[in-house]
Amino acid sequence: MSSTPRISVIVGSARPVRIGRQLADSVASTLSTNLDAEIQILDLAEVALPMLDEPLMAGMNQYQNAHTVAWANLIAESDGVIFVTPQYNAGYPAALKNAIDYIYAEWKNKPSAIISYGGRGGLASAAQLRQVLEFIGLDLVDTDASFTIAQTDYTPEWSLGDSDAVVARYADDVRALGDAVLAKIDAEEEAEAA
Ligand SMILES: Cc1cc2nc3c(=O)[nH]c(=O)nc-3n(C[C@H](O)[C@H](O)[C@H](O)COP(=O)(O)O)c2cc1C
Repeated sequence: MSSTPRISVIVGSARPVRIGRQLADSVASTLSTNLDAEIQILDLAEVALPMLDEPLMAGMNQYQNAHTVAWANLIAESDGVIFVTPQYNAGYPAALKNAIDYIYAEWKNKPSAIISYGGRGGLASAAQLRQVLEFIGLDLVDTDASFTIAQTDYTPEWSLGDSDAVVARYADDVRALGDAVLAKIDAEEEAEAA
């Protein structure tokens, strides 16, 4: 691991008009202020994976497409990940499931946390995502953070008027998640060194 741990904030929504990137940027800047870690954004709209097109299942560890190897490297080079996901119809977005399913070994034991958002905090999305991530074997912190987004938080164009202000309502939760992910990274490093 690099001397400064790298934590990636994964933007789980990939729509052309969305609030996920704004929220992830505000989460990243909240984390950067108090965490001794490099925080990077992995935006699924930019990663732009096609619908899963690997011939073999990811667990066989024989990736054949350059976009799969590039995505696998981004996760392998992340010491921890924080998923920022909206709720779509009581679940999490297809783009996020697709990105998860592309790779396998890179997720194993990855210190990680979930931040969900929606009209009521996106709790169903977080629960569904947790079930999948636990199945794969990520090392998830016990508690999720959830952001309730009010209609008044949106501009008429469906972006957030002030995403920093939205995230500030949950700053303590975000910092606690960051601390918990970093603690898991540290524990893993100590276990490797022992
Ligand atoms: C396909 C779709 C389904 C949605 N389903 C829910 C839902 O089940 N619960 C909820 O609170 N909001 C739901 N919403 C509203 C989203 O919380 C809201 O649009 C939010 O901005 C989505 O995040 P995004 O802008 O980053 O894509 C849904 C939105 C979309 C596009």
